[in-house]
Amino acid sequence: MVYIEFKELLMARYATKKFDGKKIDEDTVDGILEMIRFSPSALDIQPWKVKVITDDDTKKKLSAASFDQPQIMTCSHLLVFCANTDLVGNGDKLIGMMKVDGVPEANLKLLEDAKNNFIKLFEDKGLYEAQHNVFIAATTALYAAKSLGVDSCPMQGFDPNAYSEILEIPSDIVPTIIVPLGYPADKPNPKMRFPKEDIFF
Ligand SMILES: Cc1cc2nc3c(=O)[nH]c(=O)nc-3n(C[C@H](O)[C@H](O)[C@H](O)COP(=O)(O)O)c2cc1C
Repeated sequence: MVYIEFKELLMARYATKKFDGKKIDEDTVDGILEMIRFSPSALDIQPWKVKVITDDDTKKKLSAASFDQPQIMTCSHLLVFCANTDLVGNGDKLIGMMKVDGVPEANLKLLEDAKNNFIKLFEDKGLYEAQHNVFIAATTALYAAKSLGVDSCPMQGFDPNAYSEILEIPSDIVPTIIVPLGYPADKPNPKMRFPKEDIFF
């Protein structure tokens, strides 16, 4: 039953090219953001920050830094998914939260070791590693939105450096993928997917 509902959601979601400008109510937006928060990440490091943009002045500047793609100006809310490259900081924060939560010392030690090894492994690739996780959070946003009747588009057609400058984002937080949300003013194209024998091997 749940499978059928998710499949319907999956098939109904599409990359919306143009929204009708109608505002999504705040409860619905909060519902989407809350679901994003529960996305999985490697060792639960949660290396993401999401900027939520609604005002037209900022959108205008961001639109110019996104090849003037129509989603930016017509969406209700623009989510800018950023990679938080401070993996060590997030790891420490998480361990601190677990201590407060009363996680047994032995389990904490295991996790702390795993985190240290993991972080060391990706020492010089912090951004690369963080961005993998950010893509998963952005994917959650697409389906969370659709489950609440809101359409979206995953987008990488934008200039991350220009976004950082416009949004005054510090250099350890890197814009990675954007997800405009809203109600559609277009229609989905037929899905064009490779056959399963080309994918599963
Ligand atoms: C990483 C990524 C980047 C994308 N960037 C853009 C973009 O900049 N502009 C756009 O209109 N669509 C963008 N898309 C949407 C894809 O074109 C779309 O998902 C694909 O054609 C399949 O169509 P569907 O999502 O409607 O099934 C992007 C999708 C992904 C996953």
